[in-house]
Amino acid sequence: MKNTMADFFKEYPDMRYIYFGGKGGVGKTVVAAAAALWMAKQGKRTLLASTNPVHSLSNLFQLDVFGKPVLMPGTENFYVQEIDTKETIEKSKTEIREKISWFLKFADIPTKAEDFIESATMNPAFEESAMFENMVNIIFEGAFEFYVFDTAPTANARRLLGMSKVYGLWVDKMMKSREDAKSMRLSLSFRKKKVEEEADPLLDYLTTFRDRIEQMRVILTDKERSAFFFVTLLESLPIAVIRRFIGWFEDFGIPIGGVIVNQAIDKSDVGADSAEFVRNRVKMQDRYREEVYKGFENVRGEIPLFEKEVRGMEMVGKLSEALFPV
Ligand SMILES: Nc1ncnc2c1ncn2[C@@H]1O[C@H](COP(=O)(O)OP(=O)(O)OP(=O)(O)O)[C@@H](O)[C@H]1O
Ligand SMILES: [Mg+2]
Repeated sequence: MKNTMADFFKEYPDMRYIYFGGKGGVGKTVVAAAAALWMAKQGKRTLLASTNPVHSLSNLFQLDVFGKPVLMPGTENFYVQEIDTKETIEKSKTEIREKISWFLKFADIPTKAEDFIESATMNPAFEESAMFENMVNIIFEGAFEFYVFDTAPTANARRLLGMSKVYGLWVDKMMKSREDAKSMRLSLSFRKKKVEEEADPLLDYLTTFRDRIEQMRVILTDKERSAFFFVTLLESLPIAVIRRFIGWFEDFGIPIGGVIVNQAIDKSDVGADSAEFVRNRVKMQDRYREEVYKGFENVRGEIPLFEKEVRGMEMVGKLSEALFPV
């Protein structure tokens, strides 16, 4: 097979950010861990980060990795971190509060900011956006050579890319009309100096935000540096989910690294004397395997269904060997 994970990284030596997407529970976290471990073993200072609010990585490694990168014992380059979303959400709320208060004052609107803040922050998308924001921060900090994110920010990446163009235009227009307003005020004012020096935090915020979106768009769509991988089982629903994701990503020009099949039953363990349900599942998997290889461009490998759940470094190591066979 000339299409393995290892082949992929050989083809893209500057690869720096990879993401794992797929239906819930298919093994995104464990596969991401396996890929990160391999990369760390290649000598790259690697961060495996989870944007998931449940403590999946602490659970996987049975180690508290919450809120900060932790070097995995017994490794040199393998750092793991669970992103602290609560802190980000609080921070975002504070920022939004400041911005709204400032704006209300600026526009002379006699309302309490709290009313707006509630409606701006009390929705499920807000938490998701906060997680995405956190991921972006980690990327911009640039403390690692390689980043593995255990959940692809599917909806957010889409939104960001769809938004970046429109948003850029909008901010430019805002800036222009504010410049016009300012020069008008300036020409009408006797206190020229004061008007000129007036700080404009809202505009600063908008332009910084626009620039961040643009930088992130550049990173997300650069196929030399970013790739999204999709994990599936040999079952109907997980396949349907990644088909939809891949369709979206193609539309937005987000580079797709390929598909990874997880929990494939090892046929050498199955014989005529195996339980009927096992033999049936093998047949079912064979049918879906055909669908996967026909339907998707780069199937990068198959990971067997192990005899027990994946927990601890040793199991992650086994998974890593299955994902990167020598
Ligand atoms: N190849 C495998 N063999 C045995 N167990 C596996 C395998 N892959 C995953 N598992 C187990 O399946 C469960 C789900 O895996 P994991 O948590 O990685 O999925 P996920 O896609 O990250 O889930 P979520 O959508 O909830 O984040 C875990 O208990 C994991 O140990
Ligand atoms: Mg997970």
